[in-house]
Amino acid sequence: MNTSSDRFGDYSTIVVFGASGDLAKKKTFPALFGLFREGELPSTIRIIGYARSKLSDEDFKSRISANLKGVTNENKHKVQEFLNLCSYHQGAYDQPEGFKDLETEIKKYEDKHSITKPDRLFYLALPPSVFTAVAKNLKEHVYTKEGRVRLVVEKPFGHDLASSRELQKDLAPLFSENELYRIDHYLGKEMVKNLVVLRFANEVMGACWNKNYVRSVQISFKEAFGTEGRGGYFDDVGIIRDVMQNHLLQVLTLLAMERPVSFDPEAIRDEKVKVLKAIGDIETDDILLGQYGKSEDGTKPGYLDDETVKSDSKCVTYAAIGLQIHNERWEGVPFVMRAGKALNESKVEIRIQFKPASKGMFNSVERNELVMRIQPDEAIYLKINSKIPGISDQTSVTDLDMTYSKRYSKQFWIPEAYESLIRDCFLGNHSNFVRDDELDISWKLFTPLLEHIESKTGPVPESYPYGSKGPKQLRSFLNKHGYVFE
Ligand code: NDP
Ligand code: BG6
Repeated sequence: MNTSSDRFGDYSTIVVFGASGDLAKKKTFPALFGLFREGELPSTIRIIGYARSKLSDEDFKSRISANLKGVTNENKHKVQEFLNLCSYHQGAYDQPEGFKDLETEIKKYEDKHSITKPDRLFYLALPPSVFTAVAKNLKEHVYTKEGRVRLVVEKPFGHDLASSRELQKDLAPLFSENELYRIDHYLGKEMVKNLVVLRFANEVMGACWNKNYVRSVQISFKEAFGTEGRGGYFDDVGIIRDVMQNHLLQVLTLLAMERPVSFDPEAIRDEKVKVLKAIGDIETDDILLGQYGKSEDGTKPGYLDDETVKSDSKCVTYAAIGLQIHNERWEGVPFVMRAGKALNESKVEIRIQFKPASKGMFNSVERNELVMRIQPDEAIYLKINSKIPGISDQTSVTDLDMTYSKRYSKQFWIPEAYESLIRDCFLGNHSNFVRDDELDISWKLFTPLLEHIESKTGPVPESYPYGSKGPKQLRSFLNKHGYVFE
């Protein structure tokens, strides 16, 4: 177990608000169990689920246990041990009573273990509409000045620059930046965490990671399923807010930032902020927008077939955006972020295309390309030109391949993103959480674009069939933004 000095103690309390909900069920509790299973959470900890729904402790525990992952014959006893740490507390979000009772319950546990400096982690697995009410009640009734408090909040952190600032204005007087942990779960993904190591622990990477060698960079997010069942949520959000302004932009900053002076969370986040500030305005002709229609064989529904979305919705389910970073390292190198629902496959990857080899000896060799696959099956591979073995003097492209499933045996436990982030939070490590200024700049960058897209006279997204590669113009868009199809 890690023994960082900011690590919460063995008699900490974790309260998950919105414990009856989808995120708590699918991600938060399974992640807490995963950490417990792997010995990364103390076996003496207390976990309380809080929500308005009337649930008995038993109902609550059976909801939790139905979704736990990584349970084997060898470790199945851990399920009961974990459930023994958990209990349910019913209460409102906007009334003090539930919070006062919660304080009494937590205090009883802390007193029993003679804890004078309590450690309390509050996880808001809640719709943003109740963030502020819960934060206020927590501050008033369940806060501890003697000990340490950490508040985890989930995206969306606002809908645009103004609403994000509003939320920030509400939370800032209640909880300090040091106490706030804004989750962007992409920062907890294994390959995303590896970017800093890959770039800065390998001199060879550092040497070519700039405009002199790089022709273009793409960060691409593809999902093979549509918004089925989530249309009501998605229709007001769209793909740009859903995954680009947060997940993909976070990946981009880690890819493009300068070398931080250390692993100190502020050092890393300072560099991320600098690169965000260097991104130029997004021009309207640097965007490609799409909305999926029925699949070509008619078996999969189009976006507008969902009864929970407006029948004339122009909601964007596919977007590609070309960006420029105006600094010494990246001036002139096109960065493309693209993301889409209902595509031909589910895959998230980064693709760095290098400049061509000098002509003369070689007139037709392909460019090098470095691919970092975030999911599925994490991999890093570099496309290189190599002589065809034997008597041939021809060249062919091959891969220097580090696919994790082939390279690392199963003995390595790769935490799920949420496991990794809750662990960081428990250890008091902010590196992989979003800082207030990062958030502000990212909204500044995207808000004008979103306003343009969502205005009455905004562009109509191009329709693409469910299960396809996206809008037809994608190839020419990528070409225009520096990607060369060999
Ligand atoms: P839910 O809609 O399931 O809400 C969680 C709980 O909050 C519900 O069980 C309900 O509990 C309570 N709740 C719901 N609506 C309201 C309301 N209008 N007013 C007061 N309480 C309400 O949300 P999710 O669990 O899906 O998401 C929680 C947060 O996490 C959101 O901010 C979401 O955007 C974010 N998120 C979710 C992801 C997911 O996979 N679900 C992924 C990434 C982020 P009760 O009525 O019992 O109090
Ligand atoms: C969420 C989005 O933040 O990220 C979803 O709201 C998306 O629409 C999801 O599907 C993708 O996360 P992952 O970890 O499955 O790639």
